[in-house]
Amino acid sequence: MAILVTGGAGYIGGHMVLALLDAGEEVVVLDDLSTGFAWAVQPPAVFVRGDMGDQKALADIFATYRIDAIAHFAAKIVVPESVADPLLYYLNNTAKARNLIEAAIDADIRQFIFSSTAAVYGEPGVNPVTEETPLQPINPYGRSKLMVEWMLEDVAKARDFSYVALRYFNVAGADPAGRLGQSTPNATHLIKVAVQAALGLRPGMDVFGTDYPTPDGTCIRDYIQVSDLIAAHLLALAHLRSGGESLVLNCGYGHGHSVREVIDVVKQISGIDFEVRLGRRRAGDPAMLVAGAERIRSLLGWTPRHDDLKEIVRQAYVWERDLAARIGRT
Ligand code: UFG
Repeated sequence: MAILVTGGAGYIGGHMVLALLDAGEEVVVLDDLSTGFAWAVQPPAVFVRGDMGDQKALADIFATYRIDAIAHFAAKIVVPESVADPLLYYLNNTAKARNLIEAAIDADIRQFIFSSTAAVYGEPGVNPVTEETPLQPINPYGRSKLMVEWMLEDVAKARDFSYVALRYFNVAGADPAGRLGQSTPNATHLIKVAVQAALGLRPGMDVFGTDYPTPDGTCIRDYIQVSDLIAAHLLALAHLRSGGESLVLNCGYGHGHSVREVIDVVKQISGIDFEVRLGRRRAGDPAMLVAGAERIRSLLGWTPRHDDLKEIVRQAYVWERDLAARIGRT
């Protein structure tokens, strides 16, 4: 049986494809290449260029390949864009996910892994954030993902269908073997921005707010290395295949780093003292967001292997350094 990976040409989905292939699984990727790269999907994975909300395309895939599970990564993920164009997010992340779930049900595919987000919590008053923390997303991105969690919950009650929704905290780093990393242009994520500043690909960088109620005044996040995140997906897949119940799980390490700490590590790893401008807060940033990560450890037996900010930064740095050459080649 094969796994359908939507968004498998992107950063996180691409790592899922590599891990599945490493595990000897058959993989079919569906990606519209809006932000992903065809070169990220290598044989023996099958690549289908298309829209994950297109039920005709999905029916063709399900008729052609024997698929028993779907790992659904394809989504829009830029929070400010979601604020500026909410309907784009409700179409891509919510309505198309609905079509995908329906097509899966119609094809008798009963196992579904969903990329959810810590953005479903909004600005939590207490950290670490457990799965029981109230869900109060503060932007259309978080809402668009939370609605999919609700759809999955309702469908799983109504049908013979199980899912694992994984709420990602701040995903970072690259494949330890150097095969894949964060390649999307115009990325806004802290580690990528800082690494680009170190490489001279941008003229320094800004810190968004130094007056937060944290020890050094900058925001704290739980940075999870991408292969560790993907290991959680493989455990989720095994859980579902063995008849496990539906789950909603945080994916983070349970401790965080401030923006200043991250920048210091990037300077240390790169050896470059790039310009850092201390600026004003960015709208919608919670001061602190750290995962309560007990549930995933106890229910799936997940054990992180790359919980080391220096390692994460080094992977991101090496990937970014070599990226221009890679994109130029393909
Ligand atoms: N930051 C800077 N300067 C930059 C970029 C980021 O100071 O140039 C700061 C941000 O203000 C924030 C921290 O670094 O305090 C992390 O910011 P990121 O943009 O890397 O990540 P976010 O925490 O904002 O967002 C991440 C995911 C989202 C998801 C969210 C859930 O990228 O997709 O977590 O809370 F919605």
